[in-house]
Amino acid sequence: MAVKNIGILTGGGDCPGLNAVIRAVVRRAERDDIEVLGIRNGFLGLIEGDVEPLTTFSVIGILPKGGTILGTSRVNPVRSSQDKDRVLSNMHRFGLDALIVVGGDGTLKAAYDLHASAGVPLIGVPKTIDNDLRGTDYTFGFDTAVNVVRDAVDRLHSTAESHHRVMVVEVMGNTVGWIAMAGGIAGGADLILIPEKPYRLEEMCAVLDSRRRRGRTFSVVVVAEGAAPAGEPPPADVGRGTSTGVGYRIAAEIGRRLGVETRVTVLGHIQRGGSPTAFDRILATRLGVRAVEFCMRGMFGQMVALQGTKLVPVPLELATAGPKSVDLEQFAEAEVFFG
Ligand code: F6P
Repeated sequence: MAVKNIGILTGGGDCPGLNAVIRAVVRRAERDDIEVLGIRNGFLGLIEGDVEPLTTFSVIGILPKGGTILGTSRVNPVRSSQDKDRVLSNMHRFGLDALIVVGGDGTLKAAYDLHASAGVPLIGVPKTIDNDLRGTDYTFGFDTAVNVVRDAVDRLHSTAESHHRVMVVEVMGNTVGWIAMAGGIAGGADLILIPEKPYRLEEMCAVLDSRRRRGRTFSVVVVAEGAAPAGEPPPADVGRGTSTGVGYRIAAEIGRRLGVETRVTVLGHIQRGGSPTAFDRILATRLGVRAVEFCMRGMFGQMVALQGTKLVPVPLELATAGPKSVDLEQFAEAEVFFG
């Protein structure tokens, strides 16, 4: 059956590049006379029937804009059978032949459940600054977040050096440390702490102390919000968008053990806002184009994934089967620069 009417929604935490996907979907669909219906606020819009037709006119000028013109939410459409029924009846009411779901692990898991349990014809597009979806080398939003961290680390270096301080930067990454690792490498951090590798305070302080003995009177430490000491569970309030306190805890210990002045910067949602980098704009654009083509070919239940330079289908079930953790072999490359 030819696809004539596609719905698109963005769910979960926003990230730079969502508007680039929406624009690409509308522009690619237009070439085959396919209509696009924008669904507001993630799956909530499909439950409530809150939609708006998207035309080329609606997407003019949105490529460089952060956030999502459609709005977002973390509502799970399969949380109750009533909501699921409303989703199905609205798909029918709006005449949707296919649905493009742009989301991270939570949203795409819900999409998979909807597809597997009710046969909803949908395609997933991976987004998240965390870069933690399986089956894809990168998610858009990640590169922009890494550049925010890199910029912060650059700026903190000059003030750290002037005051001979240890500057601790807490970044996002509740279960994975991709942002911390990449931002830390790019900014030349002296120590990086990630959830995948529990830290030991003595070892951490020994690294910073050896640096000081070599005459380097300052350090910059990048810590992911979900990092935890060996033998302890991850911070309880992780992933709620407020500081988990890990940066403050570490800074206090460093100050106490090494007798140095410390300061803490929590980057928070600054990492998610603003205009996407060129890399994220290009990736998001390619994903949007290909998502429409996957719909036209009836490749439902798949996510469009980047592997190397190619876009390939990956089953949503596989993409959402747990987070993609930092490869510790790769992290060892970052460790060369510690201290
Ligand atoms: O998953 C993306 C993410 O930005 C995480 O890195 C972070 O822990 C969480 O979302 C914050 O969520 P919220 O926007 O609800 O505060």
